[in-house]
Amino acid sequence: MANLINGKEIAANVREKVRLEALELKNRTGIIPGLAVILVGDDPASKIYVNNKKKACAEAGFNSFEHLLPASASQDELIALIDSLNADPSVHGILCQLPLPGHIDERAVINAISPEKDVDAFHPVNVGKIMIGSYDFLPCTPAGIMELIHSTGISVSGKKCTVVGRSNIVGKPMAMLLLHENGTVTVCHSKTADLAAECRSADILVAAVGKAKLITADMVKEGAIVIDVGTNRNSDGKLCGDVDFAEVEKKASYITPVPGGVGPMTIATLMRNTLTAAELASKK
Ligand code: GUN
Repeated sequence: MANLINGKEIAANVREKVRLEALELKNRTGIIPGLAVILVGDDPASKIYVNNKKKACAEAGFNSFEHLLPASASQDELIALIDSLNADPSVHGILCQLPLPGHIDERAVINAISPEKDVDAFHPVNVGKIMIGSYDFLPCTPAGIMELIHSTGISVSGKKCTVVGRSNIVGKPMAMLLLHENGTVTVCHSKTADLAAECRSADILVAAVGKAKLITADMVKEGAIVIDVGTNRNSDGKLCGDVDFAEVEKKASYITPVPGGVGPMTIATLMRNTLTAAELASKK
């Protein structure tokens, strides 16, 4: 039976560390980290995420600035708001909740965020910095996952790592972070010829697709570390990941639950990145 990786507990430790460091920054420089979160439209899941970020800011002693725009807001309006936040010295981090309504070009919006305030690490400048291994911010979900893997005490170096999913938010940067730690990385996607075989060869398996029970026990190597990034609803409306947890936990050495695994780490890393942005601003 696998050991459970308790993301909730690990994230709480990171957030407490960030709170203490933020207090130290405030005492030393007078600077209070500030995070601006923009939500366009009223997608219920996005609203929950945005509220969680607001709560995390309050607990860390950060200022948070919430900007709620109607779904009908134009791209120009959104970019004008981002320009004003870029220029506001009390704002150190800017996060525009994705996905955006169809009439808005997501890439244009991401490109409008100043790279120094891009706490998601989605801007091409930050993506490029991550690629070459010299960066200020790491993307929140992949960086949180690396902490979860570190918590097992097992080194990534030399391990066969399979990432299922190639999104810009998770799959691609995840592959890069595993590579930085000398993993041998395979990225799978919808055109992968034999997904089961690629997964079965993995010592570390990261599932980030968004399909309930995509990863079944026959696709998992005995003793593998299994990280589940999925947030899906099953037929009863219950939150579940991409991994068939009940069966896979019998085979894995370590596994993340959903909820309580990867999710809390994303916010913890966001707090860490906002603190980093405030520290960098304090040195200017
Ligand atoms: N939507 C889903 N995940 C994320 C994330 O990490 N950042 C942003 N900005 N939007 C998201």
